[in-house]
Order: sequence, then C-alpha cells, then structure tokens
Amino acid sequence: MHLSPFQRRWSLDDIPYDQVDRTMIADDRDWFYLLAASSFVEILSDLYARNLGDYYAGDDETCTWLARKWGPEEVQHGEALKRYVLSVWPDFDWQRGFDGFRADYAPYCETARLGPTRALEMAARCVVETGTSSFYGMLRQASPEPVLAALAGHIREDEIGHYKGFYRIYRDYQGREPHSRWRVAREIWRRVAEVDSEDAYLAVKNVSLACESRAAFTRGDFRAFRNRIRVWMRRYYPFQPAVKMLLTPLDLPASVQRLMVSFMVGGARLIV
Ligand SMILES: [Fe+2]
Ligand SMILES: [Fe+2]
Repeated sequence: MHLSPFQRRWSLDDIPYDQVDRTMIADDRDWFYLLAASSFVEILSDLYARNLGDYYAGDDETCTWLARKWGPEEVQHGEALKRYVLSVWPDFDWQRGFDGFRADYAPYCETARLGPTRALEMAARCVVETGTSSFYGMLRQASPEPVLAALAGHIREDEIGHYKGFYRIYRDYQGREPHSRWRVAREIWRRVAEVDSEDAYLAVKNVSLACESRAAFTRGDFRAFRNRIRVWMRRYYPFQPAVKMLLTPLDLPASVQRLMVSFMVGGARLIV
C-alpha cells in the first residue's frame, strides 16, 4: 500500500509561541471558541484512533499507520492548539472544558457507528480529512495573528497527508471488495450531511460552560456562533479543492469530474 513514513513534519518546538501577538486576537471571542473547541476535538482523537484500530484489526499495515502516524498527529494538533489558546487566553480552564466534552462525546465514539464496510469507512474518513484540511486552510487565511496562521498551515498539511493515507487504504479495499460508484457516493453524502453533527456543538458548549457562569448553552447560542463562522467561510473556505477531494474516491471520468466540481462548488457556496 506504501503509506507515508511515520516521521512528523513538525513539532510544538517549531511554533514560536513566545512571539504570539495577543493584541491581534485576544479580544475576539469567536476565535477563542473556535480554537478551544478544535483543541478538544483533536486531542480526543486517541479515542477515535483506538476505535478505528479495532475496526481494522488484522490489517497490520493500516493499524500501524493509524497508531503511529495518524493518531499521534491528530493529538499533536490538539496539543498545539491548546498551547496557543492558553498563551492568548491564560485564564481559560482548559481541563474543565475538556473533561466536560469528553464525558458528553465519548458515547458517540463507539465502533458500531463506523461505516458498514472497511472500504466505505475509508471513503468516510476521506470526507472527514477533506473537512479538516479545508477548515485549517480557512483558519490560515482568516487568522489575524501570524503565529496562528503558521500553525494552521502546519496542521492543514498534516490533514492533507491523512487524506492521502486514507485514500490509499480505501483504494486497496476497493480493489479487494469493490463497491459501486453509487454506493460510495451515498456513503460520502451521508458523511457530508453529518458535518453539523454533535462534536462541534458539544465542544463549543463545553468551552462556554468552562469559562462563563451561565449555566445553559443552548442550540440557539450555537446557531448564532455558527452563522458568524459562515461569514468567514464565504470569504476564506477553499471550496474548489474541497469538492475535488470529496469526489476523488468516486473515480469519475475527468470530464464528468470537472462538470461536477463547478456545479457543486456553486451549490456549496450558496448553501453556506
Ligand atoms: Fe487534526
Ligand atoms: Fe486528520
């Protein structure tokens, strides 16, 4: 399968946290919520990595890649974001927020929720990594502070690497137990439709609970936050590369893919 080597491209020592210019970002609550929530979701990846490892038991190459490359890199994203958050907002009780998130979210991480077959789960993983690489691409562009822009750039590159790894494994399983294009498209669509799912809501909710005396964080609060993020998305989200990455597992003829990309990019912009 030739999965990528296990060395990391960067570490926390490469991020100049001492040069963070707090004045450029500290007053913006949306950045605080977004980065703190992302650090929660990323650090919890060791839990997802274990679930995926169980699901692919017996496939030693995939399990080794998940355990030595993918999982540790995702956790490093969380650690790096956590350190950034605490360097800008040192009063935030990160651990309290994270403990709340882990307690809320752990029930959603069962192996039973993974895709119906190993190939389709890998197609779904490609959707997730398309989402994360595009998200950090957006953060890199939108960041008002240079150290954060550089950090988002490092994370984005890792997420693209993850996409490529999952795509290779997907191809390998498709070669052995092929699914129709239609079946793969349905799985991709199912995962795209889940983008609004619980993890983002629960993460933002627990950031809020950890730093404000307000007892309740409602769905309405979350919707208002999400609507503000959509304004950034319209401006900075890399729609075209994201749609191309989403369609790649379908292995469409080049001319059909081009047509679909232009059609879907327009649609995605409209939806946002
Ligand atoms: Fe990540
Ligand atoms: Fe990733």
